[in-house]
Amino acid sequence: MNHEKIHADLVDYGNKLFLNSAGASLMPRSVTEKITEYLHREERLGGYTVAEQQAEELAQFYEQAAHLIGCEKHNITFAHSASSAFMQALSSIPLSAKDVIITSEVDYTSNFLQFLSLHKKRGVVFKIIKSLPNGDLDLDHFRQLIDQYPVKLVAVTHIPTNSGMVQDVATIGEICAAENLIFLLDSCQSIGQMDVKLKNIKCDFLTATGRKFLRGPRGTGFLYVSDRILDQGYAPLLLDGGNATWTGNDTYELVDTAERFGNWEKPYAMLTGLTEALKYLNEIGIQQIEKQNKKIMHRLRNNLSSISSVTCYDLGTQTSNILTFRKKDKTPGDIKTVFSKHQVYYGISQKHQGQIDFNKKGVDWVVRLSPHYFNTEEEMDRMAEIIEEV
Ligand SMILES: Cc1ncc(COP(=O)(O)O)c(C=O)c1O
Repeated sequence: MNHEKIHADLVDYGNKLFLNSAGASLMPRSVTEKITEYLHREERLGGYTVAEQQAEELAQFYEQAAHLIGCEKHNITFAHSASSAFMQALSSIPLSAKDVIITSEVDYTSNFLQFLSLHKKRGVVFKIIKSLPNGDLDLDHFRQLIDQYPVKLVAVTHIPTNSGMVQDVATIGEICAAENLIFLLDSCQSIGQMDVKLKNIKCDFLTATGRKFLRGPRGTGFLYVSDRILDQGYAPLLLDGGNATWTGNDTYELVDTAERFGNWEKPYAMLTGLTEALKYLNEIGIQQIEKQNKKIMHRLRNNLSSISSVTCYDLGTQTSNILTFRKKDKTPGDIKTVFSKHQVYYGISQKHQGQIDFNKKGVDWVVRLSPHYFNTEEEMDRMAEIIEEV
């Protein structure tokens, strides 16, 4: 990994300590260059002409995303966010009263809101896989739920927004494949920070956002749709002209590719930005990135474990590049005062972002630090000193 180049590609980094890639990361310089170049072309020629002229470059988005997760181009579509990708996927499952969705305790807020809304409007039921005392998914309980209920969908988040644990979605995927169940994977926080490959995690839908560990622009993301979903004719509840062709007064034909789940209208400048972010990441190599991420996280977790007044809240056998903690008797305000002084960029996760998890942990907020491969071990040492100062 060429650390010098990676640092040179950060714009005006200075002395800050940027540890909020789980929120919205720093885009490499070339990402914003691509976006602004594209917008300037649109300014001069109009959006349709530019899209025609740049068709080949725009098509690279599909290649880069497919390369990252190990699928074909036709399985990828652009999404405005991970949540909108999730909604498109969810809306394609014919769900009626008493049908069951299985999810996990730490699934994302918007996913839970969608399940709750389906419950309220259509009587759809959702069941939650229990967690073991160490935080891991209780896979026996998962199997029991499958045996017990008319399950129509399994939807599980890989890494939650509010804690650093990694859920065993590979085993969930294996079980779903064996039971012929549709599996919707929320990989919003895992994509870009670790190697997420479909050959290791079998799923039917995978949702991703651009702005976090992929280091792309806001308002971007993507959705993977498996061939079996496409071949079986699944489609979002409501369609637009990019999803299907209006073939006669009363007829339409679905498109063959994952575009069936996308939007005809796209923010093309942002899409070129996301493409550049994916290219940048693919060129470094996701395995290299994961290796560096493990190294800096090991250092940070070790450093914090030696501060007795700090409690970390990340459960599970496997942890990620999200670290959540609190310091005894300190408020978010105390943290902010010291962190601002040292230019630390961080997040605070709150109870409304994970009701079940926070209730179990008995807290209503945690500090969230999310370093990425452009951070250094030296920064992890500096961060520990800053936390001691709080
Ligand atoms: C685990 C997880 N899933 C989904 C989302 C939603 O992503 P987006 O804001 O792009 O819709 C987030 C955002 O924080 C997240 O952390």
